[in-house]
Amino acid sequence: MSTRSTALTGIRIAGTGLGLPDNVVTNDELAKTVDTSDEWISQRTGIRQRYVANNGTTMRSMAAMATKKALEQAGLRPSDLDMLLCATMTPEMCCPCTAAQIVADIGAVPAGASDISAACSGFVYGLNMASSLVATGHYRHIAVVGAEQMSRILDWKDRRTCVLFGDGAGAAIVSASDNEAQGCLYQSMSSDGTGGRSLYCPRDESQIPTDDEVFSGTFNTLQMNGREVYKFAVSTLQRTIEKSLDACDLKASDLAMVVAHQSNQRILESARERLGLSQDKLYINIDRFANTSAASVPICLHELLDAGRLKEGDLVLFVGLGGGLTWASSLWKL
Ligand code: ACO
Repeated sequence: MSTRSTALTGIRIAGTGLGLPDNVVTNDELAKTVDTSDEWISQRTGIRQRYVANNGTTMRSMAAMATKKALEQAGLRPSDLDMLLCATMTPEMCCPCTAAQIVADIGAVPAGASDISAACSGFVYGLNMASSLVATGHYRHIAVVGAEQMSRILDWKDRRTCVLFGDGAGAAIVSASDNEAQGCLYQSMSSDGTGGRSLYCPRDESQIPTDDEVFSGTFNTLQMNGREVYKFAVSTLQRTIEKSLDACDLKASDLAMVVAHQSNQRILESARERLGLSQDKLYINIDRFANTSAASVPICLHELLDAGRLKEGDLVLFVGLGGGLTWASSLWKL
């Protein structure tokens, strides 16, 4: 849907919501089916448990649940939505896009709908796109959902990858505001496809690089060169935060919070220390959720708002990075 431009320049995050399965799998439980241990997983990654979809829960149902809750929190009806963007690397199908299915599920037809495929960066890409669309004045309320059913694309026999990921969904409603001071102050979206082979999901033999060292032997599952991704994540996280701050002439201490993709606790801590950020300014919940790809940033955001740790006027920097390779930042005055 589009409307005549009302030329409002303020933009706010009007509501957030979560959608999670009720099934939690601890490291100890995982160690019963694959050769690993709680000690190895928690020391290397910070992960202690993850949600795994079961009993008919899907990324689509989790996404719909998260969006409904976010709309309720924003005090909006489904019919108020102009558009829904669904960031995911585990869509239900390649056609129709999952976003259109979610719009139908929540009763928001004929809102616009499109999926964003940028792996773990997808939600931050979506936040940037939504804020830019609302800034035009043609749209007032856009839902951005990050939803993943990573358990569907994992090789459960490959201990190098299956211990790292979890399922879940988080949503945020990006709305026009008459407070012009509110909104996205800076945004960036980047990619480097030459690094795509570090994290990929091959359909058949032809998609496996000839000198590949990581393929687990199962097609249509996530293959990862952990060390390559680690190096990329540590340097890119720090660089992206520094670039975003420089662009706005801000210091790390000016931020109320950095909400970054939860890839690995060591990656997050390393960037935090190098930037001189205090511990309370970089949110970490990977211990409870593992890496939920595009869902990690909105899950963090929802938890922070729910706990009253963010308030209007705060400066918050969102950072996503992951497969593609892709990375993105979005600096907001809430
Ligand atoms: N349990 C027990 N042992 C394991 C496991 C496991 N689950 N997985 C690997 N090992 C073993 C390896 O076989 C290896 O054994 P070896 O020395 O006998 O050969 C040993 O542990 C060390 O393996 P490494 O791969 O060198 O372990 P490393 O310290 O690099 O940690 C990890 C691996 C955690 C994957 C790390 O490289 C990492 O976090 N990388 C980033 C991954 C990531 O974030 N991916 C997310 C997607 S993209 C993103 O979100 C940015």
